Amino acid sequence: MAKKWAFANEVQLQNFAKQIAPLLQAGDVLLLDGDLGAGKTSFTRALGTALGITDEPIKSPTFTIIHEYPQGRIPLYHMDLYRLENGGAGDLGLEEYFEGDGVSVVEWPDFLGVSAPVDALTIHFFKDDDDDNRRVLTTDAVGKRSAQLQQQIEQLTA
Ligand SMILES: Nc1ncnc2c1ncn2[C@@H]1O[C@H](COP(=O)(O)OP(=O)(O)O)[C@@H](O)[C@H]1O
Ligand SMILES: [Mg+2]
Repeated sequence: MAKKWAFANEVQLQNFAKQIAPLLQAGDVLLLDGDLGAGKTSFTRALGTALGITDEPIKSPTFTIIHEYPQGRIPLYHMDLYRLENGGAGDLGLEEYFEGDGVSVVEWPDFLGVSAPVDALTIHFFKDDDDDNRRVLTTDAVGKRSAQLQQQIEQLTA
């Protein structure tokens, strides 16, 4: 049975991101899946802060699909594919980021298409119809490194 994390508010969810940050290594890819407003960017912002990114706030990239934050312990590449809709990710050279010297965090990974990384940890974000502040998260690992990361995350919060 896959593990579920429930958070009563945004601070709790951000604390979870902060605990994950020290586990991340160059070449790690986190795919953040979930509806608009589910907390993907909020999670990324907390992750970035914990990595040591303090010079600019992490926002939803509106027109810029890829934002690079080189300042922290390892670089953070934040991608929001929302505007790509059908196709387009193939032209962005995302593979270079995925295999690069930082951690890649991808919002709306459904639009990756053929650019999907071979090894990635998906984090699913679920809202709660009855409570605006509650979120449930689950993870899915594809590949060896992501399976390891998933295990570490499960131990972290056990
Ligand atoms: N537990 C929670 N975790 C994350 N965000 C929450 C939570 N409760 C309420 N929120 C609110 O939900 C919104 C999440 O927005 P955002 O992170 O931009 O979502 P996404 O990137 O998934 O579209 C923010 O306005 C945030 O304040
Ligand atoms: Mg977002």
